[in-house]
Amino acid sequence: MAEVRGQWSDVARASGLLAADGSLAPTVFARMTALATATGAINLGQGFPDTDGPAEVLEAARAAIASGANQYPPGRGVPELRAAVAEHQRRWYGLSVDPDTEVLVTAGATEAIAATVLALCSPGDEVVVLEPYYDSYAATIALGGAVRRPVTLRWPDFALDAAALAAAFSDRTRLLLLNNPHNPTGRVLTPDELAVVARVARERDVVVVTDEVYEHLTFDGRVHVPLATLPGMAERTVTISSAGKTLSVTGWKIGWLHARADLVDAITTVKQFLTYVNGGPFQPAVAAGLALPSSVFRQAAVDLQERRDLLVAGLSSAGLDVVVPEGTYFVVADAAPLGVTDATSFCLQLPALAGVVAVPMAAFYDDATPARSLVRFACCKRPEVIAEASRRLSTLKARL
Ligand SMILES: Cc1ncc(COP(=O)(O)O)c(C=O)c1O
Repeated sequence: MAEVRGQWSDVARASGLLAADGSLAPTVFARMTALATATGAINLGQGFPDTDGPAEVLEAARAAIASGANQYPPGRGVPELRAAVAEHQRRWYGLSVDPDTEVLVTAGATEAIAATVLALCSPGDEVVVLEPYYDSYAATIALGGAVRRPVTLRWPDFALDAAALAAAFSDRTRLLLLNNPHNPTGRVLTPDELAVVARVARERDVVVVTDEVYEHLTFDGRVHVPLATLPGMAERTVTISSAGKTLSVTGWKIGWLHARADLVDAITTVKQFLTYVNGGPFQPAVAAGLALPSSVFRQAAVDLQERRDLLVAGLSSAGLDVVVPEGTYFVVADAAPLGVTDATSFCLQLPALAGVVAVPMAAFYDDATPARSLVRFACCKRPEVIAEASRRLSTLKARL
């Protein structure tokens, strides 16, 4: 395994990617996906759908390629996508966003997060982040030389503890990095929890970066509320989303952010040296997707909810304790009732034991003590795949 050099070794260490011998360790997702490939197990580890998104969106990309949209698009994104993002925010949330000065198209939400953190943090600044957190957060904060201050959401309700949030702030806090709906817990923050976040952000005068990539994937009638819609928050929030989950095109890597014009200017300065631009023909296709009728978005959530229910039922009858997620692609289950005390070694054995791949929740924590026996499963797969995974998992109890 190649050695990581210089400053990058500090980044890799801070983001948990260095093996004990100093070499670069593959991420848990890479390890689990490699296991799935090697064993032919059903991959419920990584969160990508196994069906295509709306046919009109795919056709729009083909048409864009055929019509010659194959060179660098403008640095901030093609005008029709920036306009579509602004119109989407108006239609769904009543937000008023200027497509020319307040929107930036990025290489997925991942680049939007990275460019924002790198633009707005100096070395030594602190970033408050909900733990468990999406894995790119730790690496990105480390890349910026900043320090993460986790606020832990605890099993089984994964509620936001207002006192713990307030205690995570210091004079060095520069950003609060929020993910709602939340991967991996499946939580959708309540209006009260969002109000707490907004109050702390205003009191401590910090910018909040909200990763809302699962904004359209909420269940049981829950409505996504962007933080930027709360009083006084539009001017201090960088709102990030992506076509990947909303339109089932994770491989296109088209994301975006919107924020105050001066924040977007600063973030654009960094973004232009990360990728400059990406996905020329996909950008107009995503614009077409964002303009689809509301019913298309709602139906996608209803379909996913059915698959969530299938997976929850399968995991429960396999003997795991399950928390029913309120949104996102993911279901978290506790394997302790099966006698599991270490979810990481359990997940490494799971392909051989039951022909299924899942991810240990420990991968998303600084201190994984509260998550020792917790496992994350993805429900964004076809019903027949989830049914087969459930059938396989039903044999687990007898094998352990
Ligand atoms: C919370 C969260 N943020 C960001 C991303 C990445 O989004 P993108 O593929 O648009 O970079 C993911 C993907 O799984 C995610 O779960």
